[in-house]
Amino acid sequence: MMNRTMSEKRSAHKTTVNDVKLVPLPTIDVIEGSITAINSKADVHFDIKRIYYLYDVPNRADRGAHAHKNLHQLIIAALGSFEVEFFDGNETRKILLRQPDEGLYVPPGLWRDLKLFSGGAICLVLADMVYDESDYIRSMGDYLNFKRKS
Ligand code: TYD
Repeated sequence: MMNRTMSEKRSAHKTTVNDVKLVPLPTIDVIEGSITAINSKADVHFDIKRIYYLYDVPNRADRGAHAHKNLHQLIIAALGSFEVEFFDGNETRKILLRQPDEGLYVPPGLWRDLKLFSGGAICLVLADMVYDESDYIRSMGDYLNFKRKS
């Protein structure tokens, strides 16, 4: 189970790349295959309101290039691998996701770029809000202004 940490309560203006957490997901492995199940509040601390997945991503394609003001997410490499690069206005941090039995918790307020998708990769995302374009920050200038506010 993922513990509720200080970072989850921290204002999105103040989150840093150190608030991103890799969490093991409960998995049952048997000879016939594996199953990973994620329960709201037990395995991820938020209520899951939306699930989406990226696939058919050309291997040179870059995705992301935005931040969210309020959205909490759990990002999973359900198949294959890809890299997520975070920026908090100060530091950058790169994380390679390549295991379907681990999730990357991402709090609001972090710029992210997704890149280096392996062939056939599936990026599965669980989110605590339905899609809302007004939650996105899509320009680096706006993002840096957002992070300057307290
Ligand atoms: P975006 O979140 O920018 O994708 P990525 O971070 O993977 O590059 O979304 C790309 C487009 O898809 C954009 O027009 C918004 C739309 N979209 C939805 O309509 N609903 C969703 O849940 C998501 C994630 C995106």
